[in-house]
Amino acid sequence: MAILVTGGTGYIGSHTVVELLNANYEVIVVDNFSNSNPESLSRIKEISGKDFKFFEVDLLDRGELETVFSNCVIDAVIHFAGLKAVGESVEIPICYYHNNITGTLNLIDLMQKYDVLNMVFSSSATVYGAPKQVPISENFSLNVTNPYGRTKLMIEEILNDVYTSNSNWSIALLRYFNPIGAHESGRIGEDPNGIPNNLMPYITQVAVGKLNELKVFGNDYSTPDGTGVRDYIHVVDLAKGHLKALEKIISSNGVEAYNLGTGKGYSVLEIVQAFEKTTGKKIPYSFGPRRSGDIAECFANPTKAEKDLGWKARRGIKEMCIDSWRWQSQNPIGFQNKNDKNYATTLIR
Ligand code: NAD
Ligand code: UFG
Repeated sequence: MAILVTGGTGYIGSHTVVELLNANYEVIVVDNFSNSNPESLSRIKEISGKDFKFFEVDLLDRGELETVFSNCVIDAVIHFAGLKAVGESVEIPICYYHNNITGTLNLIDLMQKYDVLNMVFSSSATVYGAPKQVPISENFSLNVTNPYGRTKLMIEEILNDVYTSNSNWSIALLRYFNPIGAHESGRIGEDPNGIPNNLMPYITQVAVGKLNELKVFGNDYSTPDGTGVRDYIHVVDLAKGHLKALEKIISSNGVEAYNLGTGKGYSVLEIVQAFEKTTGKKIPYSFGPRRSGDIAECFANPTKAEKDLGWKARRGIKEMCIDSWRWQSQNPIGFQNKNDKNYATTLIR
């Protein structure tokens, strides 16, 4: 079975491609490297020992994207490609709407044209906004507060409409909580541009000496220690969730949302302590004001994914910290050879 993976050289995409190859799927990756590095392609191949097709294509270029559909047999699409920085989306909303929405419209239009009606979509827990209570179930009201989140909610709604128009579609909307960690090999991981926005890459960059100290955004939330609580999920567990969702959509039609989280929340200070304990690295920190737009607590009720998909997160906080640190310490500047385009995959331009 052949799976088209958009955004397959990015953080979650690269880990999912490894799992797909390990499970003997044929994989076709499309990416424009707007937030990733070609080096990840050879690392994926190295870890899996398998080859796959790669197209350097921007989803905004419908003509180029169509060459992928006309050249390959595709059974299903896993759609990761998108811009994801909340703060940046507030500064350049048109770019976010154009990239995420137009890119998705081009993709699903071609899927319909080529009769590829199976899709797994990367949504986000951000669609729940500030939840009235935790844990969060899929039937909670949706309420987004920034352009990035709005693109995710709009795409969910577009995909619901597409299914209403043609019930042969089969779509899984995966609402991720907070992915951290890296492949156990230490060869692929999260490689943010510039100063990280997210907690774990910030911590690992403090640990490796690139940043001086962590600023904890607020210690006056109504949480046990006053710092924000999130549902951190190991990226490999998340990747495996995509294979389970794929099995589900291949065997039935419909459109369904699933929370992919562990069901357990950790505070910022608990993450710092867990990281220090498991890695032996000291993380200096100080408290700062709350970050605009942040919520106190966010964690999943993941039982729907367990019941319907047979998926459950297995890796605990210790593994998440160890694997994040292995990746960062072995790749202190992230993916190297930034301009090396001689990767050993099938590059079709
Ligand atoms: P990422 O930035 O590492 O990966 C996204 C990939 O998409 C990148 O390789 C980028 O180059 C590519 N891309 C972006 N726009 C493109 C376009 N127009 N054409 C072709 N390629 C394009 O991000 P990630 O963390 O791996 O996230 C993957 C998906 O999951 C995104 O849609 C993101 O919004 C969603 N998500 C991520 C998180 C998280 O915390 N990482 C949480 C919830 C949801
Ligand atoms: N935090 C700090 N200092 C930092 C970075 C983060 O204290 O330098 C705190 C935040 O205030 C929050 C927690 O660490 O309490 C987690 O913050 P992240 O930025 O790592 O993650 P968020 O929960 O804010 O957002 C992430 C993704 C969003 C996605 C959301 C829900 O960045 O895109 O999870 O899935 F929408």
